[in-house]
Amino acid sequence: MSSISFSFKDSLISKEEIDSESKRMDAEIKSMNRASSSGYEDDRSSINLPEDKKLLSSVRGAISKKMKLKPKCIVVVGIGGSNLGTVAVQEAVLGKLHNQMNPKIKIIYADTVDTCLISDIKKIISSMLKNGENVIINGVSKSGATTETIANFEVLVGVLKKYRNDYEEQVVVTTDRNSKYWSLALKNGFDVLEIPKKVGGRYSVFSPVGLFPLGMVGVNIKKLLSGAASMKKKCLVSPKYNPAAVSAIIHFLHYKKGVNISDLFLFGNDFESIGKWNRQLMGESIGKEYNLRNERVNCGMTPTVSIGSTDLHSMAQLYLGGPYDKLTTFVKVSKASPSVKVPDFKEYSELVESINGKKLSSIMDAIMEGVKYSYRKGKRPFTEIILPDKSENSVGQFLQFKMMEMMCLGSLLGVNPFDQPNVEDYKKETKNILNRR
Ligand code: PA5
Repeated sequence: MSSISFSFKDSLISKEEIDSESKRMDAEIKSMNRASSSGYEDDRSSINLPEDKKLLSSVRGAISKKMKLKPKCIVVVGIGGSNLGTVAVQEAVLGKLHNQMNPKIKIIYADTVDTCLISDIKKIISSMLKNGENVIINGVSKSGATTETIANFEVLVGVLKKYRNDYEEQVVVTTDRNSKYWSLALKNGFDVLEIPKKVGGRYSVFSPVGLFPLGMVGVNIKKLLSGAASMKKKCLVSPKYNPAAVSAIIHFLHYKKGVNISDLFLFGNDFESIGKWNRQLMGESIGKEYNLRNERVNCGMTPTVSIGSTDLHSMAQLYLGGPYDKLTTFVKVSKASPSVKVPDFKEYSELVESINGKKLSSIMDAIMEGVKYSYRKGKRPFTEIILPDKSENSVGQFLQFKMMEMMCLGSLLGVNPFDQPNVEDYKKETKNILNRR
């Protein structure tokens, strides 16, 4: 399998600067190595998911059981860390248009309590159930107590109940062992998949949170995990040869110089949700009010998502002419398949020269080269990640890279990259308000 490559020659950070920060990473790399041999005892233990054979086999068991029902659709009911990774992998590997490509099993996401969205999903699954087709409802919540998820789950399980006496067999709940959701699921006869305790939402894509729905729709989860495992190895070595550590150091050094926006600029329409997954990963991991010494720091880089070439037509002016407050990570795939060529219609050559007969991927490459040239010229710092292809293995590598990078960045910034106290705060307040009404 080919590896993804990471280049930082245009980061505007010198090798010497990186080397001098590298020493500060040693302790974190040691902690990661320790975590790597301690099962799920450590906050960093999501790094052990890709090699957890037992967990993979329990997910596979659940998948084959539910496949026997020949479902036409799976609805993932979850929000934030409980669905962003699934959407990211599904769209990157199977494409955003998966449901329109006449697949064996469609996938639908019920995240927020948006009346229009949920009422449309109700209509879609009701019509399937009426036709005698089966639908799997996968409720995903680590805490088992997220308002939106539980509300949507109740609504959608309500639809199942209406059309099926044995509706329980079409429900799978993914949650922490012994959460209230876990107990409710068992009491109702639903199948339950466990999220290891120390694996937080935004680090859970390689747990049953992502693996079950992804496996159901045909993503090769073994290859996804093997890509992640191979990247994990690379990110456990000395910072000098460790792409996650180097990328974290570059972010840290720019942040110290006042750069507070990190733009993930993905050249690939199907990668947009990877950008959204990364936004949560970075936003929640390093956006912190207090540091580890309990000093108020209000730390954070704002993660943004750009899609090439689409967003060049809306944001490039700001990126190239605006303030010097951004560090960009360009992401592209080196091998575009299948190949699509522009026909050689003579009459069109007057509209745009030199595209006739060219592959769309070569046009995209030219655009990207042009953008990089302009960034260099304007002294706009960037790094570049190249995926060999859009396979499960490559996507697995990429996501593992980003998760380990965030652990390194948290350590450099002196904040806890695993908690989200302010998110918990607003969740609690929402419940108080609902209780008062
Ligand atoms: O990262 C987080 O902790 C949050 O974004 C959660 O993933 C999100 O709120 C959903 O929580 P839960 O999985 O407990 O329903």
